[in-house]
Amino acid sequence: AYTGKIGPSILSSDLSQLGRECRRMMECGADYLHLDVMDGHFVPNITFGHPMVECLRKAVGPNPFFDMHMMVSRPEQWVKPMAAAGANQYTFHLEATANPGNLIKEIRESGMKVGLAIKPGTTVEDLAPWAGQIDMALVMTVEPGFGGQTFMEDMMPKVSWLRSQFPSLDIEVDGGVGPDTIHRCAEAGANMIVSGSAVMGSADPRSVMALLKDVVLE
Ligand code: DX5
Ligand code: ZN
Repeated sequence: AYTGKIGPSILSSDLSQLGRECRRMMECGADYLHLDVMDGHFVPNITFGHPMVECLRKAVGPNPFFDMHMMVSRPEQWVKPMAAAGANQYTFHLEATANPGNLIKEIRESGMKVGLAIKPGTTVEDLAPWAGQIDMALVMTVEPGFGGQTFMEDMMPKVSWLRSQFPSLDIEVDGGVGPDTIHRCAEAGANMIVSGSAVMGSADPRSVMALLKDVVLE
């Protein structure tokens, strides 16, 4: 069995106020924080790295769970620095590594949980061999790189298939998820819900997160 959780993506928040924005999201009912790391190489955009995460950890205290979405070309390189900075889960892209098994082991040895992400063009069969060794599968519902894109409904069969094969696996969806698209995700069996612009762009993020979580819990 799995439980529904909501993790706002702070990519579309006021990045000059990241600590405050993270605290505000936790106060508004976030279960965890989804932190998008982009290196300008794996994706055509740059965000932040482990020095920022270290500062953020100090700003928010020990409790908020940091799910690091590593949109980087060499995920092996940042495992130890991210663990030292206070990351709780290291979600790397299958497309970015030649040796997922080794990386999974390194992440565990660093004391973090393991997330494995696939881009829209990657099949779920490619992920399946690793599903028994990871804590969470991330099925991207947009091309990674930017917030505010349109939800790709045709990714839902990946989620349904994973859910049928791995009943207790945490399955996260990320990209274009909000009140209009959450029902599709819930039906397919996703239980970790990332939402960026729909939450951050709302005047009432508490209600939006409560609504999203409610649908997943049904
Ligand atoms: C996209 C990022 C997402 C993004 C989600 O590359 O991985 O986490 O911030 O934002 P929305 O919900 O606006 O699509
Ligand atoms: Zn993300």
